[in-house]
Amino acid sequence: MATRVPRIAPSEITPPEVYFSRRALLAGALAAGVSTLARGAGSPPAGAAPLEYTANPRYSVSEAPNRYEEITTYNNFYEFGTDKEDPSENARNFQPRPWSVTIDGEAETRGTFTLEDLLKGQPLEERVYRFRCVEAWSLVVPWVGFPLSSLLARFKPTSRAKYVEFTTLYDPHRMPGQRSSVLAWPYVEGLRMDEAMHPLTLMVVGLYGRVLPNQDGAPLRLIVPWKYGFKGIKSIVRIRFSATQPHTTWSLAAPNEYGFYANVNPAVDHPRWSQATERRIGAPFLAARRPTLLFNGYADEVASLYQGMDLRRYF
Ligand code: MTE
Repeated sequence: MATRVPRIAPSEITPPEVYFSRRALLAGALAAGVSTLARGAGSPPAGAAPLEYTANPRYSVSEAPNRYEEITTYNNFYEFGTDKEDPSENARNFQPRPWSVTIDGEAETRGTFTLEDLLKGQPLEERVYRFRCVEAWSLVVPWVGFPLSSLLARFKPTSRAKYVEFTTLYDPHRMPGQRSSVLAWPYVEGLRMDEAMHPLTLMVVGLYGRVLPNQDGAPLRLIVPWKYGFKGIKSIVRIRFSATQPHTTWSLAAPNEYGFYANVNPAVDHPRWSQATERRIGAPFLAARRPTLLFNGYADEVASLYQGMDLRRYF
């Protein structure tokens, strides 16, 4: 358990628009360069390894993606520091290969598998998803990955498997943020089985057509687009099928602030701030905040998973 309750209050961080203006100025660009004109294209560095994938328009939004730089320099990855720019700096030398993932718990097939083995026979797709952080900022991201359901099916979960628990690498030597007790390490997240098997739930290995950068959770992370970003656990080393609801990192740290479900919901405020609106990273300085959408705009696809549940209680 953390010795100090972590606080991720928007008021305590540099607002993204200020942050990006500063970076743009530092780069010698005009402050106007952070306007919408500069958004859309994005350009991964030439060195990033390209992936083979097909675009999946069925599961993509038509909004313009954020720029590569925005997605890779404004991160939450406390294993590499708590400031937004820390992960891009402190994860630079992290080596995400070789990598293996242990599958255990309520499944017929268990064991430790190399990343290459897990990726075998999984065609990669690009999906442009909305991403809403619990801190009330948002992005649009062209992820590359494959449905979690097709990975899980391979291990033949038993009828006792009601939840899936994910764990991040614990290695304070390679992840310097783990030398501080800001969170209880390793980072753990979880989904109900039907959420894990939903076709929108994605295992991500890439971004902008290239191999996933370290700061975004290399080599393997989860993305659940209708939930707050903290459900999207990074650098996964363990997947466990469980009969009981997993104890997840943020809900252990502050149970009244971060629930297990964490479904994006403009009607259920965080105890310390409103969730009704959000700021799109990279939007012009004076741009209006956007209304936050129920289930982050994916209600048609996922609302039925929560039929009959009180979303205020199961937040
Ligand atoms: N996973 C791990 N292991 N450690 C973290 O600190 N932060 C979470 C989530 N996954 C986090 C994590 C939070 S709070 C968010 S908003 C997203 O990652 C941020 O993902 P991004 O940096 O790719 O935008």
